[in-house]
Amino acid sequence: MSQVLPERPSGLLIVDLGTQYAQLIARRLREAGTWCEIHPAAKAMEAAKKMELAGIVLSGGPASVYAEGAPEVPEGLLELGVPVLGICYGMQWMTRTLGGTVEGSGEREFGHTELHLDDAGAALFKGVDEKTVVWMSHGDKVTALPEGFRTLASSETCAHAAVGDDARRFYGVQFHPEVSHSAQGKELIRNFVVDVCGQPGDWKAENIADREIAKIKEQVGEDGEVILGLSGGVDSAVAAVLVHRAIGDRLHCIFVDNGLLRKGERQVVEEAFRDHIGLDLTTVDAADRFVSKLAGVTDPERKRKIIGHEFIEVFRDEAKRFTNANFLGQGTLYPDVIESVAAHGGNTAVIKSHHNVGGLPDDLEMDLVEPLRELFKDEVREVGRHLGLDERILMRQPFPGPGLAVRIAGDITAERLHLLQEADDICTAEIQAAGAHETLWQYFAVLLPVKSVGVMGDARTYENACALRIVESLDGMTADWGYLDHQLLRRISNRIINEVRGINRVVLDISSKPPATIEWE
Ligand code: XMP
Repeated sequence: MSQVLPERPSGLLIVDLGTQYAQLIARRLREAGTWCEIHPAAKAMEAAKKMELAGIVLSGGPASVYAEGAPEVPEGLLELGVPVLGICYGMQWMTRTLGGTVEGSGEREFGHTELHLDDAGAALFKGVDEKTVVWMSHGDKVTALPEGFRTLASSETCAHAAVGDDARRFYGVQFHPEVSHSAQGKELIRNFVVDVCGQPGDWKAENIADREIAKIKEQVGEDGEVILGLSGGVDSAVAAVLVHRAIGDRLHCIFVDNGLLRKGERQVVEEAFRDHIGLDLTTVDAADRFVSKLAGVTDPERKRKIIGHEFIEVFRDEAKRFTNANFLGQGTLYPDVIESVAAHGGNTAVIKSHHNVGGLPDDLEMDLVEPLRELFKDEVREVGRHLGLDERILMRQPFPGPGLAVRIAGDITAERLHLLQEADDICTAEIQAAGAHETLWQYFAVLLPVKSVGVMGDARTYENACALRIVESLDGMTADWGYLDHQLLRRISNRIINEVRGINRVVLDISSKPPATIEWE
């Protein structure tokens, strides 16, 4: 019996009041098993009306409620009859709006603070220790509560660190339960989602996959056909598997081998998709075409532009073969479509024009099928795992669309590509074999435009140098260089110098981002 799935499950609305943590709040809510959406204050009411709303989270934000231009939440949100959790600024706004008092404390309270529960029986604090560490970051604080509210927890410097009105199911916390520094923040969020909002906690990989597959079937219909560009990365891979489950061989995948891939990458993709899943997969052998277009180009931005342009040309040519295809599948993720307050808050300089393979022009005149549009990366991985996708693809490190082209500083030639592929393969394999990759965001080799003198046996060499770039990061926006054991570094360096003819020196990049970036170009 086929189940009729609703277009959207019931969920929570996160009102983004300028916090840097909006996506983190969303991920925590999703981990607690509920669907949720992020919207700026100005769009919150409209969004709330479209959702099957189970609760609202008002985020923190940098402003003081008294500051000119401070974000104003539509007051009607407090009249929808659903539970509300205000975090930091969100709590202050709610308290003031409902008749309480918020005052500037003159100084900022920032960092770890011990929280004491005044009411350990409160629903919000079920399972939370009577003394627990939380993360504070605020200037103003609540000094008098609105009618109906009581204090649930306090800290040495903050008398009303958590407050609540059980009758209306309105709660506020001065600290940030969403950040990992708040030791039991996850419990608090789970309590709000499950016990206060009554969400069933069924936002899980299997349900997400079933829902997306049903939606694709409905969108594509009985005889629609989809083409999809596989990049080798996780997103397009999971999108492809979902579409394949929905419409089988009416999905046609195109994988462009641009010659800028890591060693063995093409084989992994072909094995995982063609041999294992049985997808209709076309690999386009375009390495010569890309490498000849890149000959003599050393400027990183020009490299990116050439690769982006060439990719579109190749894809367009291939797509012509599928005359019945009227849909284009893409692995767009939720963070790409969130209307972020912070992102619109100022002018950001273009540091690098990121080109994503699969970033296609609008004029292909096809409807988009984007089954990951509502998902975060970790959810995409879970869905992929649930669908039995090859772990080698699921656990891929992020890899830039322009591939090894931005890891060869200077001139790109087939020979230099080969050198880098070999060195990078050793670096990756050794780090993975030692299990050191689990705490790393990325680990790879970069070929430098430098030659240096060495000695091999009794002979003088004059060969290339490569750098190891090994970083820890949560989101790629900032990064720290990662620590590797000396023995492991020694093994990587020895193997590269002994096994890769043409490299006689290995250096370690110990720069953080900022001011450096993760990639060298
Ligand atoms: P940067 O070098 O800007 O990299 O510190 C941050 C993250 O983005 C990846 N990256 C790219 N991804 N197209 C992509 O799809 C690109 O052009 C690109 N450049 C960098 C990089 O690998 C890191 O994870």
